[in-house]
Amino acid sequence: MNKKLALEKLKSEIEANTKLPLKKSNLVFGEGDINSPVMFIGEAPGKNEDLEKRPFVGRSGQLINKNLEKINWKRGGVYITNIVKKRPLLNRDPNEKEIESFKPYLTKQIEIINPKIIVPLGRFATNYFLPTAKISVDQGKIFEIDGRKIFPMFHPAAALRGTKVMKQFEASFKKLGRIVDNF
Ligand code: URA
Repeated sequence: MNKKLALEKLKSEIEANTKLPLKKSNLVFGEGDINSPVMFIGEAPGKNEDLEKRPFVGRSGQLINKNLEKINWKRGGVYITNIVKKRPLLNRDPNEKEIESFKPYLTKQIEIINPKIIVPLGRFATNYFLPTAKISVDQGKIFEIDGRKIFPMFHPAAALRGTKVMKQFEASFKKLGRIVDNF
């Protein structure tokens, strides 16, 4: 089966699963270039994402877009999704049960897209892949799991809250550009 069909099938499977939590929210499956070597993975959709059924369309998404442009990449040239694919109401953090419920789908989504490098955004997404990592220490470093590179970065929302984190976020983005240029 080709990638596009495999992803459509996976999306339908999530839609058909009535046992998944966060039933009141829309499915935000993910978007972008399904052949990209880079897959950004956030935490969970927020209000704007739930409304548009697209990941990272609010202020955090705009910051990602701006940094992609700075390294001459297009938003449509990367793949972007989240660990939890439905919005936890009131924007609370996703809980263990929610993360576990979506895990088989994210695992499959990664397998289909087969990126060379995964960029978890923020603490939740980072600890999903690297349970003992500390975002403030390990962001901007390259890890490897099962032959795939993992490059944790601060969540853009954290960068928007403080100049110091913003500087590190921007520096890591540039580093990501250099890593991918050398693939
Ligand atoms: N924050 C996330 O982690 N994901 C989104 O899609 C939007 C905001």
